[in-house]
Amino acid sequence: MRTKRVLCVLCVMLLAVLSGCGKGGDEPKDTKLVLGFSQIGSESAWRIGNTKDIEEQAGAYGIGLMLENANQKKENQIAAIRRFIAYKVDVIAFSPVVEEGWENVLKEARDAGIPVILVDRDINTEEEGLTTCLIGADFYKEGVMAAEYLIRKVDSLGLTKVNIVEITGTQDSTPMRQRQAGFMDTIAGDDRMCVLESVDGDFLKSRGEECMRYFLGKYGDTIDVVFSHNDEMTIGALPEIEKAGLAPGKDIIIISIDGGQEAIDVLKQGKINCVVECTPKLGKALMETALKLKNGESVEAVIHPEEVAFTDEMDVSTIAPRGY
Ligand code: AHR
Repeated sequence: MRTKRVLCVLCVMLLAVLSGCGKGGDEPKDTKLVLGFSQIGSESAWRIGNTKDIEEQAGAYGIGLMLENANQKKENQIAAIRRFIAYKVDVIAFSPVVEEGWENVLKEARDAGIPVILVDRDINTEEEGLTTCLIGADFYKEGVMAAEYLIRKVDSLGLTKVNIVEITGTQDSTPMRQRQAGFMDTIAGDDRMCVLESVDGDFLKSRGEECMRYFLGKYGDTIDVVFSHNDEMTIGALPEIEKAGLAPGKDIIIISIDGGQEAIDVLKQGKINCVVECTPKLGKALMETALKLKNGESVEAVIHPEEVAFTDEMDVSTIAPRGY
């Protein structure tokens, strides 16, 4: 499997080099840049859409992409970054599965003179400046948007108290930390909001299902709200609510994050009340930033895409196909 992947990577590099040979000066694509990208895994439709977008944009920009899938393991990401350094790629990019533990390998990249771009998630290191920039969502704002929707919903229903359960993303990951912080900070001053419990769902559908079973077993029909950090876990949780004889979207307010097609379809059926968008389409900004770094140009420290919330307050039939 590993030999196959390495061969694949070498083919991509060879193609990138060959396509740059023997062409006239009017060739529009810069074929000289090789980008090593370590992806977290394939845990969600979001992640699969993100990988696809990065592959497509690398092709569009004529960038040689060495893509490695870490299967949710930090050790695999560290090993991939070391391979990129050994191959002497021009730029390294990675989506860190969690925030801690990158200091050593990033110092190795710096010593090799290879700039590093963070994609999607952030890191936490003692030493500053080990990465050049971050291209990814404003997760804190996503949590705020989720909570603002909830406050409007509770107002419109005239509720005096709501019990909330939270299914969080991967423990110690940036979206988990920031979505939770944005949500909790926003409901903090509102006496009607009572958070019963938060459980780690690891961004997985199977864990969403398990967490919901656990919550229903413990709190039963006293649950008023599920705040789930991604669509995958939400989709896993919904059948458990139905099996318990409750109607998601009616008996329990369901709030999700990502905005993938499957969740939007369920929003249209009325079983989800709010889906905060988190776009996986980060590939274009990544390629443009990598090219700038290769050319020695300065880049923005943080690039956040614009995102919206899709809710049952709007005409959901008009939501355009999501593409992931
Ligand atoms: O880091 C972004 C998050 O990771 C998305 O919300 C989730 O679906 C993905 O797995």
